[in-house]
Amino acid sequence: MKTTATANANIAVIKYWGRRNDELVLPYNNSISFTMDELQTKTTVEFVDGLKADELILDGKVATEKELLRVQNFLDIIRTKIGTKKHAKVVSKNSFAKSAGLASSAAAFAALAKAATKAAGMDFEDKQLSMLARRGSGSASRSIHGGAVEWLAGKREDGEDCYAIQLSKPNDWPELRNVIAISSEHEKKVGSAAGMKFSVQNSALFKSRLESVEERAAKVREAIKKRDFGTMARSIMQESNNMHAVMLDSWPPLIYLNEVSFRVIDAIIDLNSRHSKEVAAYTFDAGPNAHIYTTNRHEKEVKEILDEINGVQKTIIAKVGEGAKINSDHLF
Ligand code: DP6
Repeated sequence: MKTTATANANIAVIKYWGRRNDELVLPYNNSISFTMDELQTKTTVEFVDGLKADELILDGKVATEKELLRVQNFLDIIRTKIGTKKHAKVVSKNSFAKSAGLASSAAAFAALAKAATKAAGMDFEDKQLSMLARRGSGSASRSIHGGAVEWLAGKREDGEDCYAIQLSKPNDWPELRNVIAISSEHEKKVGSAAGMKFSVQNSALFKSRLESVEERAAKVREAIKKRDFGTMARSIMQESNNMHAVMLDSWPPLIYLNEVSFRVIDAIIDLNSRHSKEVAAYTFDAGPNAHIYTTNRHEKEVKEILDEINGVQKTIIAKVGEGAKINSDHLF
């Protein structure tokens, strides 16, 4: 059956960085994110009789070997589960230009998990879908749900307690915004999977991060419950700084931020001090593009500040978005 699904990217406020099991993609710590609209992937999947190999078209182009291999490996997990050898045709499209440096493996594998399981005749619940999406990309486990989401690291070796849960619904915090400032369109030199491996292997700070991350997570959970931006803001910024300190402490050093990122950090600290309270919070993933969490009251001000910063090429404002969904509008 030909099946199409959509999924949104998510921006973590408590980060996933470091795996206790690479093959099963099991993280060391719980992570928390908001699923965001604006950055959406749509994917159509069909398992076709007689097809010799999997086919993958991304944004209208035949995928690279590397992209295809990642999708093949993911589809193999589904094929093993249902005992088929059938190959699939997969066509995927992003709502944003891939060149914007925002290509999201989270949205991609959440949409693929949702579409491919249904196309294979499996009726998966969100918990199972999250565990499956996790195998494609860790952060994809969170994009199955909309709203605020926590990915539980779990303790089991087989990963059966490692999946994401929804902390609050998409409409529970309608005032929340994420203003994205794009300063680089380049693909990162060291991918997340390789980078986090260095951190686990040889960063002394990584060990201390694991001791402090739960304290920040607890504050963020509480803030989400109360919709209290001020309480959450400082923890978000400290968490991003902490992860990037670990990255820098790794060997070879992982430097994902650029000079524009630091200009953004300065500008947000200045903004908050002018207001004498936290009205915006920056967070960065494994790249230089800034994600500024704020509320509708300050989104215009934040956008204007970011647009003025030397090196910021583009800004996008996102709201809290929905989880992965089946869509009837196929791409082929
Ligand atoms: C820095 O989910 O991209 O964005 O599991 O290797 O696909 P893989 O990694 P990925 O890692 C993202 C890490 C992060 C922080 C986060 O989103 O939690």
